Amino acid sequence: MTQPVRHFLDLWKLDGAALRAILDDAHARKAARKGWTQGRADADAPARDRTLAMIFQKNSTRTRFSFDAAIRQLGGASIISTASDMQLGRGETIEDTAKVLSRMVDAIMIRANRHEDVERLAYASTVPVINGLSDKGHPCQILADIMTIEEHRGPIAGKTLAWVGDGNNMCSSFIHVAPKLGFQLNIAAPALYHPDLMDLARAEQEQGRINTTDDPREAASGADVVMTDTWVSMGDVDHDERLEALEPYQVDAALMSLAAPDSVFLHCLPAHRGEEVTDEVLDGPRSLVWDEAENRIHAQKSILAWCFGAI
Ligand code: CP
Ligand code: NVA
Repeated sequence: MTQPVRHFLDLWKLDGAALRAILDDAHARKAARKGWTQGRADADAPARDRTLAMIFQKNSTRTRFSFDAAIRQLGGASIISTASDMQLGRGETIEDTAKVLSRMVDAIMIRANRHEDVERLAYASTVPVINGLSDKGHPCQILADIMTIEEHRGPIAGKTLAWVGDGNNMCSSFIHVAPKLGFQLNIAAPALYHPDLMDLARAEQEQGRINTTDDPREAASGADVVMTDTWVSMGDVDHDERLEALEPYQVDAALMSLAAPDSVFLHCLPAHRGEEVTDEVLDGPRSLVWDEAENRIHAQKSILAWCFGAI
């Protein structure tokens, strides 16, 4: 019997065992190549003879470079394009694009303006599709973040993570995965930029331990990890309203002092220094943001390996 295509679109669609297997593989692959040059392929090269296509409807530094590095380290190759350089930019449908690329490559990563486009691409594709960020989630980033927490503070199960600021796509993906991996998630967001209610309802059904508040101090108190993100995501148009509503949610040294004494700070980057986070925190001893950025490569290698059925 043929296996269904393994798309990686939303963390809530994966079970805890698959997520655990991806994370364990990422830790092991990173350890196995310690001291190697970035371009050297892993010994097992599970993507040998495979090509990854990447489509970008939005800007990217980390996702673009880390996926390219990842597929090379797995022994494969990549083809990268912005959507505006493709016929997609002139109105060719997502479905026709999916059918054509499925004949040319072995997997497709897309960074999309609308989550619906990621789903339409996956529906029409016969090869795995990976969500490299949409307005509804950033699942690859969240696995890199969890990997980073585990590297520095041990297993994620039982930890308390505090999300402070915009209830955005990053926040949604943390809500998706909290019940699967057994951590507590405290979210502090203003009413205007509250996390997605459907995501919260699903997590509640899955017995997720998620608390929401509008008080950043309440969310951060005793937390093992404090996290934030830009107040104005790509595609957001209400810039001034956001800066005003989110101003009390800046992560600074005073807020970090309420977290657990050995707490760490995460930010997916790019950061807007002096807005959602101060220089003191971002560049301080508790900040893991550079490891977090590097771990995009390691986590995505294991996501790709899972998509290819190698995990
Ligand atoms: N964190 C992240 O996805 O960064 P880029 O937008 O640079 O890809
Ligand atoms: N929430 C941000 C994340 C960028 C990596 C955005 O969507 O723009």
